[in-house]
Amino acid sequence: MSTRKQYKKIVCAYSGGLDTSVMIPWLKEHYGAEIITYTGDLGQGEDLSGIKAKALRTGAAHAEVDDLQERFVREFIWPSVRASAVYEGQYPMHTALGRPLLAQRLVEVAEKYGADAVAHGCTAKGNDQVRFEVTIRSLGPQLGVVAPLREWEMLTREDEVDYAIERGIPIPITREKPYSIDQNIWGCAIECGEMEDLWNEPPDDAWQMTKDPSHAPKGSVEIVLSFEKGIPVAVDGRPMGGVELLNHLNDLAGTFGIGRMDMVENRVVGLKSREVYEAPAATLLLMAHTELERICLDRPTWHYKRQVSQDYANIIYEGKWFGPLRHALDGFIERTQATVTGDVRLRLSAGLARITGRRSPLSLYDTGLATYSEGDTFDRESATGFMELYSLSYRTVAAVRRNNQLNALPESDTRKD
Ligand code: ARG
Repeated sequence: MSTRKQYKKIVCAYSGGLDTSVMIPWLKEHYGAEIITYTGDLGQGEDLSGIKAKALRTGAAHAEVDDLQERFVREFIWPSVRASAVYEGQYPMHTALGRPLLAQRLVEVAEKYGADAVAHGCTAKGNDQVRFEVTIRSLGPQLGVVAPLREWEMLTREDEVDYAIERGIPIPITREKPYSIDQNIWGCAIECGEMEDLWNEPPDDAWQMTKDPSHAPKGSVEIVLSFEKGIPVAVDGRPMGGVELLNHLNDLAGTFGIGRMDMVENRVVGLKSREVYEAPAATLLLMAHTELERICLDRPTWHYKRQVSQDYANIIYEGKWFGPLRHALDGFIERTQATVTGDVRLRLSAGLARITGRRSPLSLYDTGLATYSEGDTFDRESATGFMELYSLSYRTVAAVRRNNQLNALPESDTRKD
């Protein structure tokens, strides 16, 4: 008899894959609970029509499925674009942004069914357990959390398949690729298999959303992305809702093989891992948004916001989406985005997106001030006084050094070897 704490009802995050399928009978056996599965569609590009029936056939008492795409874009992706949130300089964090929303829904579904615990299929060494559990514990502190993959004895996929066969539960019949893949409308992450050797090039069949750039269409295309207050609203002058806009850009940039990344990152638990990412739409939007900020934000604000972006990215990566610091930083970001309205033009070609133009009714770029041709409005004389003051502290240092017979430059800069 198990010594585990027993639960009455557990809401289980369910994808229909092997791990979460095996979780259903395993939780029933080990926790004595009734199982309710929850599946959220974040635009993972899978057909979820049969998933409810599959969960019930696997032994769930109830199965909930909903389309979260609109909410995901509006409440999670757009704020991250406005924040220019990219982890360790590269990763736009589609997975890290999706987890808090799924966890929030797990808590809501648990409340609806009067469940006393939730379960997820994350492994012991990933970031996702952190994101699920921090969110669940902050939004539903009364709920127990079960992470079967940290507990059960099954260590290999073969163990899990045997377990499933013994219990007659349906398991995915497609021959699985040797990768772990997590995809949604903001991007795709692929790891494991031969990519665990950092020197190996990612195999061709690892990529899900993008074509090999060497098979991209010849030549290039130009697109115009429009933003209102930092939110993408139109492509080539055609207004689009968030989901439509992202699908359109994912297809277009994906055809050109844009947005592929091969990255070694620092996980929350302390280890480094290699992950291959695809973020076609995200690459274009983050580039274009930052470009627009270059003309719409004043110098100190633009500089300061870059620091905030780093902190914001870490907050997302570390699963602290629903914490007070993110809300506080959103206050700052909201203010900065009030003037980030305008268009950015990009040229797309094989594997590459380049900015070719930007314009905004609120642009701080003043041709009169910048020009070296006719129509210059810049007051040349004002620069003379500015140079006097701007160099004042350096001139003072130089005078003191000279009066004390010291070199004008520190030792290390005057050595001639
Ligand atoms: N490394 C990314 C993160 O921690 C993605 C995790 C999921 N990756 C995967 N291939 N299943 O956010």
